[in-house]
Amino acid sequence: MTALPQYGKHVHPSETMRAVVIDRYGGPEVLRLTTVPRPVPTRGQVLVRTRFVGVNPKDVIVRKGKFQIATGKKFPLIVGHDIAGEVVEAGPGADLNKGDLVYGMINDFAGRAYAEYAAVDCQQLAKAPTSVELAVAAAVPLAAQTALQALRDDAELKAGQNVLINGASGGVGVFAVQIAKILGAQVTAVCSHRNVDLVTELGADSIVDYTKTELVDLDERFDVIFDVFGNYCFDDLRKLLSERGTYVNTIPSARIFKDVARSFVRRKRAKLVIVKSRRDQLEWLRQQIDAGRLRVVVDRSFPISDVAEAHRFMETKRARGKVVLAVD
Ligand SMILES: NC(=O)c1ccc[n+]([C@@H]2O[C@H](COP(=O)([O-])OP(=O)(O)OC[C@H]3O[C@@H](n4cnc5c(N)ncnc54)[C@H](OP(=O)(O)O)[C@@H]3O)[C@@H](O)[C@H]2O)c1
Repeated sequence: MTALPQYGKHVHPSETMRAVVIDRYGGPEVLRLTTVPRPVPTRGQVLVRTRFVGVNPKDVIVRKGKFQIATGKKFPLIVGHDIAGEVVEAGPGADLNKGDLVYGMINDFAGRAYAEYAAVDCQQLAKAPTSVELAVAAAVPLAAQTALQALRDDAELKAGQNVLINGASGGVGVFAVQIAKILGAQVTAVCSHRNVDLVTELGADSIVDYTKTELVDLDERFDVIFDVFGNYCFDDLRKLLSERGTYVNTIPSARIFKDVARSFVRRKRAKLVIVKSRRDQLEWLRQQIDAGRLRVVVDRSFPISDVAEAHRFMETKRARGKVVLAVD
């Protein structure tokens, strides 16, 4: 059996679980389904019997080793952040109980969700929505919290404001369009022609087809620009911002850090969203889903044995909404 540096000594001496690990950074072929020790929940944690996990571009970035400064060089490493399943054991001080169906996102940079069990801090989890299957709930945490944190917390989007969402048909974008509508904004969504119907159904007020129109050529002004796809920069789009508008990007780069620093002394602001999982945000999202205000769009799901295929699909950057892995 393989040792598991992520959990250190907090593993059960004899219990095992199936998990997808990587033994080095690289292409989808480095993802390997194997048997590893089962973790033990520590203070404030619960052990979740994982039923489904969400697949995100961040999992691909971690697998490729693009953030080795954060993910280190100790292998094997379990990747993945989004999780939905059942609490089977509560650590000391945990405020979730055995039998609770939960969903959430593991905040550790490498994650450790692609496994039959995960020990997770309770504050990174909440009770799962009751109106959708766990397979659907697993698609929510990372992407929807990114959209919520970018629009409501970073950009302080208010009712009546105009927002431009670039990359409206992907994992984050499908939530961003709907959350912006829930917050009462006018939404202009940017997608290709193949996704116009989907994004319109989700509530976008107008659509820009990026294959026909360059965003920089738009005449309108926006209070908020959420550059989900991240192929623009603040300087490209600042002329589209209203006088005190905010531009939010999703991709950490030297450029965006410089723009964020410079915009402290400017009226138009640049921001970078860095998603963190929080109980209160997951609860807000659950309420929206259970009230029928937030639809979860799952493009496709794969059995965990096809995890490499799921990563290959993710890397096409053509997902309509989310991708999910079934762990069972
Ligand atoms: N900083 C953070 O905390 C954070 C959190 C979450 C995500 N992210 C980052 O945010 C980015 C988006 O994540 P995601 O999950 O939404 O990705 P995703 O699901 O892979 O996005 C796929 C979507 O992008 C669209 N797309 C492709 N080329 C485009 C273009 N040139 N312009 C506009 N849209 C285009 C595709 O639509 P078409 O097929 O129609 O082109 C597809 O629907 C990723 O880079 C991810 O790493 C960062």
